[in-house]
Amino acid sequence: MSIHFDAKARTLTLNTAHTTYQMQIAEPGHLLHLYYGSRAEGCLDYLYLPHDCGFSPNPYERHTERGWSLDTLPQEYSGSNGGDYRLPSLALSTDSGVVGAELRYVSHTIEEGKYALSSLPTAWDRGGEAQTLTVTLRDEAAGLTVELLYGVYEEQDVITRAVRLINSGSQTIRLERAASACLDLPFGRWDMLHFHGRHTLERQSERRELMVGTQGIGSRRGTSSHQHNPFLILCEHDATEDHGDCCGAMLVYSGSFAMEVERDQMDSVRLVAGIADEGFSWQLLPGALFETPELLLSFTDSGLTALSQRFQRFLRRNICRGPWAERPRPVLLNSWEAAYFDIDAERIRSIARGAADLGVDLLVMDDGWFGERCDDHRALGDWTVNPQKFPAGLGAVIDEIRDMGLSFGLWVEPEMVSEDSALYRAHPDWALRVPGRAPTLGRDQLVLDLSRAEVEDFVYETVASLLRAYPIAYIKWDMNRSLSDVASRALPPERQGETAHRYLLGLYRVMDRLTREFPEVLFEGCSGGGGRFDAGILAYFPQIWCSDNTDPIARLSIQEGTSFAYPYSAIAAHVSASPNHQTGRQTPLGTRGFVAATGAFGYELDPGRLTETERDEIRAQIAAWREREPLLRAGEHYRLSAPEEPYCAWQFVAADQSETLFTLVMRRVESNPRPLHLRLKGLDAEACYEIVQQETAGCALAVPDMSGTVLPGSALLRGGVTLPPLYGDYPGIRLLLRKQ
Ligand code: GLA
Repeated sequence: MSIHFDAKARTLTLNTAHTTYQMQIAEPGHLLHLYYGSRAEGCLDYLYLPHDCGFSPNPYERHTERGWSLDTLPQEYSGSNGGDYRLPSLALSTDSGVVGAELRYVSHTIEEGKYALSSLPTAWDRGGEAQTLTVTLRDEAAGLTVELLYGVYEEQDVITRAVRLINSGSQTIRLERAASACLDLPFGRWDMLHFHGRHTLERQSERRELMVGTQGIGSRRGTSSHQHNPFLILCEHDATEDHGDCCGAMLVYSGSFAMEVERDQMDSVRLVAGIADEGFSWQLLPGALFETPELLLSFTDSGLTALSQRFQRFLRRNICRGPWAERPRPVLLNSWEAAYFDIDAERIRSIARGAADLGVDLLVMDDGWFGERCDDHRALGDWTVNPQKFPAGLGAVIDEIRDMGLSFGLWVEPEMVSEDSALYRAHPDWALRVPGRAPTLGRDQLVLDLSRAEVEDFVYETVASLLRAYPIAYIKWDMNRSLSDVASRALPPERQGETAHRYLLGLYRVMDRLTREFPEVLFEGCSGGGGRFDAGILAYFPQIWCSDNTDPIARLSIQEGTSFAYPYSAIAAHVSASPNHQTGRQTPLGTRGFVAATGAFGYELDPGRLTETERDEIRAQIAAWREREPLLRAGEHYRLSAPEEPYCAWQFVAADQSETLFTLVMRRVESNPRPLHLRLKGLDAEACYEIVQQETAGCALAVPDMSGTVLPGSALLRGGVTLPPLYGDYPGIRLLLRKQ
């Protein structure tokens, strides 16, 4: 059992293979957080010496002990308005004048298996791998029962957290803040590493030492956003890829969020993460339940790579579900950058012919196939096939495409409505809008109010009826604007603060229904590329379009930032045309292949514009990808370079260390450069490895062929490899090494 209650010390301890998490029930019922870190035995309350800190007050029952303050002791789930002046986890008010939150321990239970939430996605238990601790707390004055939930995945070194809030009193409670978790790290010097960006430049990593005060990341956009990802790492100031304490926290949520970190007067650090409280409020009627999104936590003392590998494995195994979670993904060709809106039966047929000739598995028809959709100003909501573009209907085209040996995929954006659409004309009140105010348009479109049951049904029916009517193997589910004018015509004024979260609840219900009803359909999430790249989406859709930027050099930092938490099976990556449509940069086809082949792989170009040589090269890329797909999907991933290096290098190593694929791509070339020297990682030091294949891309000067070279694992790990300088425009090299 990985969860222990020590009745004498009043501690609750969660042990995973390499970590320990401990809390203590203190008199008169406060739940203290004692420790989260590498595995440690015993009761860790000795770490906290009573310390009378001026202006840090004392709870009523312990006012004689000046050193006992909620303001200086680590808290498990911080209250508000009760003498802890650091970040609160919970804030509420009631009609009787209760303001703030003060929680006391009531009871706890320990159970086999993993808890689930009734309204939100959570990590799942594949059978016997998780246990659940529920600690029940109560705010007596407000009549609120709070259940802190902990899922302990012992082997995976992951602890999940969520909170159930139940109105067990007789008056309405207004929740003003309801965080998923609070995590106090009382000792140490910590850096914060997070992933920020913008449309077409998502998840750029930034690391900085925590300053005194509050800092954080978040989104007010109703989506997890391009700008910040709901994942951050607190790592020791001197932690590297290979060593040092690192703690990762990820929200399983796709809406507005806040992850705030405070370094306080004692240099103690608190992380509070959950739904953004700005614009949020929730009326909890007597008897009602509110669930917070789940937070995933993992800790390692072995550096950033080990932390990333844990998250990647956990998301692949315990967040992704359904038959596609562990299946090889089809190589697809998407019509977007080939045709944009200029799509019709003839065009898609010709793209499909080209795709079939290249050997791809799946043809995806992107935007432009429905209603009057000839540009991005109209027709979202009118999900019927355009009869001018498809005179014989969509079914006939799909049949032809399937006869070419391809399966068929379709793009939809069902959460949206254009003002110029039959749907909007029929149901103007279905769009999010503030009464009396002209709404803000994003890409000339409005957002459907998914907090309404009838809209939820419409979105479900839109996609379900397409899947019932046609043999569709794949859906690209897009979402092309941030929420604004967040107000629902269906909710009373005092409940408007619930709209944005209710939108997510509606969306998750739709995704749940569709993925259960059509388990064989592969769904790919998308939001203008990676604007909703999060574990909430991955709980339903096992892959997400990583970025609308398909330039391989821009993709290096986007995919690398994404790799800090997300598995490569989730990162959709395509080879597109050169010059690139987003940056105008020209890159070698081989380099584009190297970069895209580290994700759910595909193409985003017009095969009709390729030369015969390029077609041959693409056929070879696809063959190579198929061969290495198991290694890329389930192998361990290592980052071998820092963002400031002139190159980006990475490695996949098979779980049994039998082979490794090493890739290096130059971000920029220099004259008279040093040879490239890197140490490989993750290999068996006792074995020998042979370079069985060497591929280069875009190299202006020939690179000596190293295939056939045999080297001891210990030499590759400690001495490393030295590669000749690569010259040319964005050249790259890829080596496949196999254990002898
Ligand atoms: C978004 C997506 C693109 C494409 C377009 C279609 O920008 O990210 O891949 O599907 O919409 O309008």
